[in-house]
Amino acid sequence: MRGMRSAAKQPEPAKRPEATSLKQTVAMLWPYLWQFKYRVLLALLALVAAKAATLLMPLALKYIVDALDQGRHNLLVVPVAMLLLYGGLRFASVFFGEVRDALFGRVTEHAMRKLGLRVFQHLHSLELAFHLDRQTGGISRDIERGTNGLSFLMRFLMFNIAPTLFEILAVALIFATLFSPFYSVVTVLAVAVYIFFTVVITEWRNKYTREANQADNTTNSRAVDSLLNYETVKYFNNEQYEAKTYDSFLARWEQARLKNRLSLLALNSGQALIIAAAITALMWLAADEVVSQKLTLGDLVMVNAYMIQLFLPLNFLGFVYREIRRALTDLENMLGLLKRKADITDAENASPLQLASGEIHFQQVDFAYQCGRPILQQLSFTVPPGSKVAIVGASGAGKSTIARLLYRFYRITGGRISIDGQDISTVTLDSLRRAIAIVPQDTVLFNSSIRDNIHYGRPDASEQEVEQAIDLAHLRGFINSLPYGDATLVGERGLKVSGGEKQRIAIARAILKKSPILVFDEATSALDSTSEQAILQAMREVARNHTSVVIAHRLSTITDADNIIVLKHGRLAEQGSHSELLAANGEYARMWQLQQKQQTDR
Ligand SMILES: Nc1ncnc2c1ncn2[C@@H]1O[C@H](COP(=O)(O)OP(=O)(O)OP(=O)(O)O)[C@@H](O)[C@H]1O
Ligand SMILES: [Mg+2]
Repeated sequence: MRGMRSAAKQPEPAKRPEATSLKQTVAMLWPYLWQFKYRVLLALLALVAAKAATLLMPLALKYIVDALDQGRHNLLVVPVAMLLLYGGLRFASVFFGEVRDALFGRVTEHAMRKLGLRVFQHLHSLELAFHLDRQTGGISRDIERGTNGLSFLMRFLMFNIAPTLFEILAVALIFATLFSPFYSVVTVLAVAVYIFFTVVITEWRNKYTREANQADNTTNSRAVDSLLNYETVKYFNNEQYEAKTYDSFLARWEQARLKNRLSLLALNSGQALIIAAAITALMWLAADEVVSQKLTLGDLVMVNAYMIQLFLPLNFLGFVYREIRRALTDLENMLGLLKRKADITDAENASPLQLASGEIHFQQVDFAYQCGRPILQQLSFTVPPGSKVAIVGASGAGKSTIARLLYRFYRITGGRISIDGQDISTVTLDSLRRAIAIVPQDTVLFNSSIRDNIHYGRPDASEQEVEQAIDLAHLRGFINSLPYGDATLVGERGLKVSGGEKQRIAIARAILKKSPILVFDEATSALDSTSEQAILQAMREVARNHTSVVIAHRLSTITDADNIIVLKHGRLAEQGSHSELLAANGEYARMWQLQQKQQTDR
């Protein structure tokens, strides 16, 4: 299946990618942080305020307990001030935490937006070959997880790791000054063991996380692919088969998640054990000293409060470390996408195409999609300015390939393609593609209205021009017959309009683009003879004063071409006008006779 094959093809992730991706991530994040430096600064201030309040809380608690404890022997007085302070501190610690999140949210969201856009633009800059290989479902998952990973990293590196480490130091310091350094030593030691354990186990677990991600990607790709092929599935009654394959992917995902969860159990229980041991040790120590009256009851409560308070975020630190590792693994995939260099780009000193008359020249062009299977060989021909040239030949001869090469979707292996004397590989892609309008062999439409799909040909075209294109493509009757007119939605990939209607939308779109060079690749193949004649007439009008290349199987549609190029196995077999080729009695004449015979037989 497609999903499986490409899953196996994906390059193995490097052994320890997180070091590089961490550096890259920070480098990537820096501009966003800098852009919002005052906001970041305020968020940091809120963080310090929240931490300070948190650190003071157990102290306040100690004074409350001590006051009550002493009160037992004298008069019982409620330590109102301390209680109010305690409440205030508790509120402040939560409140400033919220303020911090609110302030910083804008920064992360902006970074996510920028990064999402960057990946999207980058994907569009990659060549057709990449997109024909891609797995849409998998890629969208990579992007989603990558941007989420980014926001996670931003929030937690700044607001969790550093502050928690700071809090540990502060607590150790408080213990050392108030009691004995012994408390600090136990605390720091416990934290060290805890961190060490977490890191080691998380490293070990990472391969399970990665496995689960992979399984998630392939499962998603498989589902998308299957749903895109909904009709095909029904045509061949393959729901069962689809469900079975999908389930086998799900089973792999389930298996991967199972291992993932079991290893999580090991991690969490280990962490809990370390925390419990540390708290017991310290409480024992404190209780001993309360008995020997070295410490007050308030001190014992305070030690307990600090420990619980300390291990709470520390427990979180374990989670954060795991998540950071995961976020980095996720980012790794997205960075991999970003790192993929576009193969077809503007040459270093590319200049815009200087269009004069629109002459196309193929000069001994060699081309192959994969090495070992040449598609075009030593192909030379010229399309004189303003003329109409037809390309005919058997299926698979390389006709559509010629159109793709003209758009520079692929790199040719030999020869030269030029427009008005300029090698197309030396001009900017944008200017090149602006100069050509195409009605492709297979039209795919956006899932929007008919009008939007036509307008797409040139988004800045006026309403009047759109109307004109609709008329020229003979869409008026069809559009008028629709209850919602040109606002009718065409469905995903245009599946809710007929093949012929789709083709006419594509023609209107190409007409609207108003490019000097026109390419029609089997533009009327899906139309009935009457519509075809009408459209051909319209195309002739549009093509007047334009250079046009017409690819056709039905030879009767191109008899008026100025020149007909006959392709055979990627080579030029013969060329000339219709009458010349008939007179030559070669490949073209043979094809013509065959088609004439079919016509009369019908
Ligand atoms: N992306 C691709 N990767 C590998 N081979 C390809 C690719 N696209 C097309 N081909 C192969 O290149 C050959 C020429 O394809 P092309 O689409 O140019 O044929 P065509 O002459 O337009 O045929 P048709 O009349 O059926 O549209 C075909 O044999 C096809 O299998
Ligand atoms: Mg084709």
